[in-house]
Amino acid sequence: MNAMSTRVTTSSALQVLFSRQQIAVRVAELGRQIDRDYAGQSVVLLGVLKGAAIFLSDLARNIKVDCTFDFVAVSSYGKGQQTTGAVKLIKDVDHAIEDKNIIIVEDILDTGLTLSFLHKMFQQHKPRSLRIAALLDKPSRRLIKIEADYVGFSIPNQFVIGYGMDYAERFRNLPDICLMPPDYPE
Ligand code: PRP
Repeated sequence: MNAMSTRVTTSSALQVLFSRQQIAVRVAELGRQIDRDYAGQSVVLLGVLKGAAIFLSDLARNIKVDCTFDFVAVSSYGKGQQTTGAVKLIKDVDHAIEDKNIIIVEDILDTGLTLSFLHKMFQQHKPRSLRIAALLDKPSRRLIKIEADYVGFSIPNQFVIGYGMDYAERFRNLPDICLMPPDYPE
């Protein structure tokens, strides 16, 4: 293990953009908002693997309305810091979404290509309602018009890791949302 990989396995050596405490406060607020919007109803939290896994698990524990989980997986960015733009469904939902209140849960809304693809696809299955919760939003990166209904934090075009978000599949386990060091070796 080289010096760089040792240093970046804990958030203490990285620049923290949002601390675990800040994230907890904001996720609790989003949970209360969802409780108000769906009072007396049931919701399906539909997580987009893998980045949304940690946000979904925290958001779910801040929701009091009746709630179930489902997950989809789509093709990924790959190893580098650039998106290919191509979105492909790798894993579909396990349960039919027809007539259900669906909240698609994402870690980050970037170009919008992933959520636009998923939103269009799920809309065809006639859910009762279809909304989007994104922990992070990078509006300046958008290539397609799409907005989330619930947004944790809006950020500029910064490459972030931690709290589910990766660089080449690593760092998802960091409890804080951190900035990817620009000098990190490929
Ligand atoms: C990230 C994120 C979204 C997508 C957003 O996924 O989780 O799914 O990119 O980007 P977009 O708005 O430009 O489409 P990634 O491909 O990194 O896979 P992961 O969830 O497994 O980390």
